[in-house]
Amino acid sequence: MRVLSGIQPTGRPHWGNYFGAIRQYIALQNNEQAFYFVANLHALTSIRDRALMQQYTLDAAIDLLALGLDPNQATLFVQSDVPEVSELCWLLLSGTSMGLLERCVSYKDKVDKGLATVAGLFTYPVLQAADILAYDSDLVPVGQDQAQHIEVTRDIAQSFNHQFGEVFVIPKAYVLPTAAKVPGLDGEKMSKSYNNHIEIFESPKEMRKKVMRIATDSRPMDQAKEPDGDLLYDLYSLFVDEPSRDELAAKYRRGGFGYGEVKKQLADAAEAYFTQAHERRQKLVANPDEVRQILAAGAAKARAKAAQVLARAQDACGVTLNWTR
Ligand code: ADP
Ligand code: TRP
Repeated sequence: MRVLSGIQPTGRPHWGNYFGAIRQYIALQNNEQAFYFVANLHALTSIRDRALMQQYTLDAAIDLLALGLDPNQATLFVQSDVPEVSELCWLLLSGTSMGLLERCVSYKDKVDKGLATVAGLFTYPVLQAADILAYDSDLVPVGQDQAQHIEVTRDIAQSFNHQFGEVFVIPKAYVLPTAAKVPGLDGEKMSKSYNNHIEIFESPKEMRKKVMRIATDSRPMDQAKEPDGDLLYDLYSLFVDEPSRDELAAKYRRGGFGYGEVKKQLADAAEAYFTQAHERRQKLVANPDEVRQILAAGAAKARAKAAQVLARAQDACGVTLNWTR
């Protein structure tokens, strides 16, 4: 079973990205053939600065490796290192109806958020379809917000297969069952766009400052409180095992504690949780050549597969002069 997913290099990952997506992607590498890539071509619709694009692309790869992506188990590469995907994208674009793309909510969302109304943003789901179909992917782990794009991919693949024969494997979305919905510092969904996030790799000192600034109600110290739905308790639960969570829940129900103390506990737990990843990241940052080698090896593997699929698609629609049949 081939699992594939892409991550846009549009900024540093936060707690929401990790518990909502990255943690589960990485867990899949143990049992499945996993392909993960940094979607720099998709990011070109929003990042229009050469140095920033290069920095974010490398950062995204380093972050994934630091968080536990094992290049001996999963194939990690950069999207643009597989030009076959862009070629396949054209074959798919030529048969994709405008109506299908007009129904995609992510285009409208992004334009509402202020992104320029460029053609690449409108056709973004077709490049995503090419990403998925180029590797005969079976399963695409994504957050709920991306599920529609996998439906579009299935539509595009089915209509190509219908016209030209069985070329593409029809993929399935895998909306992560263990994904947490992570609240941000204001209790709304954690998101870069709401600026209520804590990045995984910011310094523990900065992280702690943000945790200490989380607004809480003015409950007196001795009053008991229901833990479920409490922002500090919910965040703390992400980082600890069940006994520690139950211990804090009991404290809430007993009363006689202050939020300052819980905030400190949360910051300690978050720091401990990501300590190893911070250490791994420092080593990787000091050895960018090692990261480039991992990406080059990943790209070679990915290209070999994409070249086969592209040849199949080109042959099926007759854009190659294949004299042998
Ligand atoms: P942001 O909202 O910060 O821009 P992205 O949209 O780039 O984040 O998120 C990338 C992926 O991370 C999403 O597809 C989603 O699965 C996951 N994700 C982001 N924020 C959260 C959150 N607060 N809770 C759970 N998952 C999240
Ligand atoms: N569009 C995805 C996102 O914004 C990133 C992505 C690009 C992707 N190509 C993909 C995800 C292929 C899954 C499969 O999060």
